[in-house]
Amino acid sequence: MKAGSNTHQLSIRGGVPLHGRVQVSGAKNAATKILLASLLTDEPSYFTNVPYLGDTLITAELMKHFGAQVDIQENDWSVNPEKIVSGEAPKDGRKNRISVLAIGPMLHRVSEVEVPLVGGDQIGPRPVDYHLAALRMMGANIEIKDDRIRASAKKLVGTSVTLPFPSVGATENIILAAVLAEGKTTIRNGAVEPEVLDLVKMLQTMGAIIELGTNRVFHIQGVKALRGTRYTIMPDRNEAVSFACAALATDGDVTVVGALQDHLLTWLNTVRRMGGKYEVLPDGIRFYRGRELHGIELETDTHPGFMTDWQQPTATVLTQAQGDSLIHETVYEDRLGYTKALKSMGAKIMVTDDCLGVLPCRWWSRGFQHSCRITGPTPLHGAMVDISDIRAGMAQVIAGLVAEGQTILRGVEHLDRGYQHLDRRLTQIGARLERLPTVY
Ligand code: EPU
Repeated sequence: MKAGSNTHQLSIRGGVPLHGRVQVSGAKNAATKILLASLLTDEPSYFTNVPYLGDTLITAELMKHFGAQVDIQENDWSVNPEKIVSGEAPKDGRKNRISVLAIGPMLHRVSEVEVPLVGGDQIGPRPVDYHLAALRMMGANIEIKDDRIRASAKKLVGTSVTLPFPSVGATENIILAAVLAEGKTTIRNGAVEPEVLDLVKMLQTMGAIIELGTNRVFHIQGVKALRGTRYTIMPDRNEAVSFACAALATDGDVTVVGALQDHLLTWLNTVRRMGGKYEVLPDGIRFYRGRELHGIELETDTHPGFMTDWQQPTATVLTQAQGDSLIHETVYEDRLGYTKALKSMGAKIMVTDDCLGVLPCRWWSRGFQHSCRITGPTPLHGAMVDISDIRAGMAQVIAGLVAEGQTILRGVEHLDRGYQHLDRRLTQIGARLERLPTVY
């Protein structure tokens, strides 16, 4: 859907520091994969802390189409995958990138799968070549036709894969296929993001044998069958960072209840580097400024580095920090598009295709606008802006919370895919924000 042509807009009247306690939801990027993993058995599974938002609901629609029963009680979900009828995803249903991760589980259940090939989006081309190459190595026949991936296999066999880049999705896809494959699978250069490990932990409770060695190497011993499970989804660390940024940018004081220090070590160091303050409490983490913020250099990286999804909301904070900041995005080639909106609200940001950092970068000398310099602090003013993706949207929401006057955000469906009841929770900590119906 084109940004701006959705059903709702968000109006924010900014300039008010946020104060109070806000509960973090379950992690979207763990929940969606964990739900699909429950298809690897014919026994029921029960989940708590599932975020109720667009991406989990689209995943549920896909699973229901396959024949699973999915019962949703806000954040308590149960899946009964006893009667899988087909591995073919609907042609006209709502889709997201998660469906490519259904290939492994559905090959194990029904030997034939057809899912949409979801192309690039606002943050880059986002190919799935690593996923498909690994599945082929495991014995799947795969063809792509009419933007659909068709896969078939009588059985999958273990293999040894070295990923060209530690891709989260490819690592998860291979794990989901390997747990029931014949023999052993080794993944080298795998992703070790907490969401990947949450999937591994959940699979372990189903009876899977997965070991994580040193240097990003996973060893998976295929088993004959898995059992149903009960599992609580990890808290969403991206959401925790979003709320923390809202607190720091507005010069407020917010405790993110349920945020886990374990998942946020690099972020907490970044807060300290900017001159912000945090306090790790028994039930969450408190964020506030304490003194003036100052500019920093930051580079996104795979875990345990500074996560690419934290980059955008942090950029908004840096527009309020004293001096120059440099951001070098090394995970996605095109994840600075939102800076246009921030500039239209008064931020001083210069985007460049240079690598403004020292990390090895796949985008070096390839013409991608993947670094920027932010000069602050700059007062922000309200504007009418379009949201292009989830984290860009959050950077823009936070800018709206800082800005004097009214900001209207169009394209709220991007936020709804990734944040549960965002308006309600921001209002609870003092944001003046309202959802408006779109007038055509
Ligand atoms: N890549 C390839 N080929 C592949 C797979 C990935 O070239 O087959 C490249 C990508 O184009 C990108 C890099 O590898 O340049 C990393 O992509 P990765 O596969 O790690 O990302 P993903 O699994 O598609 C997940 C999250 C993203 C998050 C990234 C990085 C989900 C549903 N999405 O994406 O989250 O930014 O990992 O940690 O888990 C979001 O929540 O809004 C979001 C975009």
